[in-house]
Amino acid sequence: MAVKIRIGVLISGGGSNLQAILEACDAGQIDGHVVFVGSDNPQARGLARATQRNIPTFAVDYRAVIRQVKMEGTEDSAPKDFDLERILTCQKLIPTASDKDNLAGYFRTRAIAESQLLAEMARHPFDLLVLAGFMRVLTPYLIDRVNVDPSNPRIMNIHPALLPSFPGVDGYGDTFRYGCKVAGCTVHFVDYGEDTGPIIGQKAFPIEPQDTLDTVRSKGLALEWALYPECIQRFAQRRLRVTVRTYAQKNRAVVQRKIVEILP
Ligand code: GAR
Repeated sequence: MAVKIRIGVLISGGGSNLQAILEACDAGQIDGHVVFVGSDNPQARGLARATQRNIPTFAVDYRAVIRQVKMEGTEDSAPKDFDLERILTCQKLIPTASDKDNLAGYFRTRAIAESQLLAEMARHPFDLLVLAGFMRVLTPYLIDRVNVDPSNPRIMNIHPALLPSFPGVDGYGDTFRYGCKVAGCTVHFVDYGEDTGPIIGQKAFPIEPQDTLDTVRSKGLALEWALYPECIQRFAQRRLRVTVRTYAQKNRAVVQRKIVEILP
């Protein structure tokens, strides 16, 4: 019998991907089980999917944290181990030329919320953290504390577009409005950028002339429910390896590709 991995899930909304993951665990398509479901939004409807199954849930109300920080400032409330210089050096979320005070305030505020998430997650040890419709970016503060071994990333995200096209909050909408003929979804490891991490798997489908944004979303979601369990199972089987391949071109320029190898 394969050893089951412990999966932590973060959601913000309805949780249909969470449902697909729970059902794939039940069906033995994922050698794993969900050990917690957390959210940035106490009202997230998907939390009920977990409580029905007696899976622990928690919410860190990001909006409330941000509101409180606006009133009280961040200097005193940032976590003790918050290292602004390190975060500014490695983050790829916001151009570093931006206003330094705003940058510092943004990353301090996120670290306050993320330290609360980490405290909740610490009560439920996990092997893999899965973002399933979690509509907050993670900053290096949380990423570094989960990816303690940087060569073994263990945070995954699903994005509703064929990355690197259309990162951000409305992948299907952006794809549809652009007039693309093909749409799709991507599962990737999370790195220090927004939707930029190494790609684990993708599925695509044609956009037909009669499609609407609603039909594109529902076709895309159906593919997400298949893709995410497949990628999680490859992680459970230890078949994912992030490698950098280097190619020398004819003009001797060296090109690097970071890829996720799927081992046999
Ligand atoms: C999914 O389409 C997922 O790809 C997307 O949110 C939806 C969540 O649906 N995620 C993002 O846009 C992340 N930036 P669900 O709550 O029913 O799983």
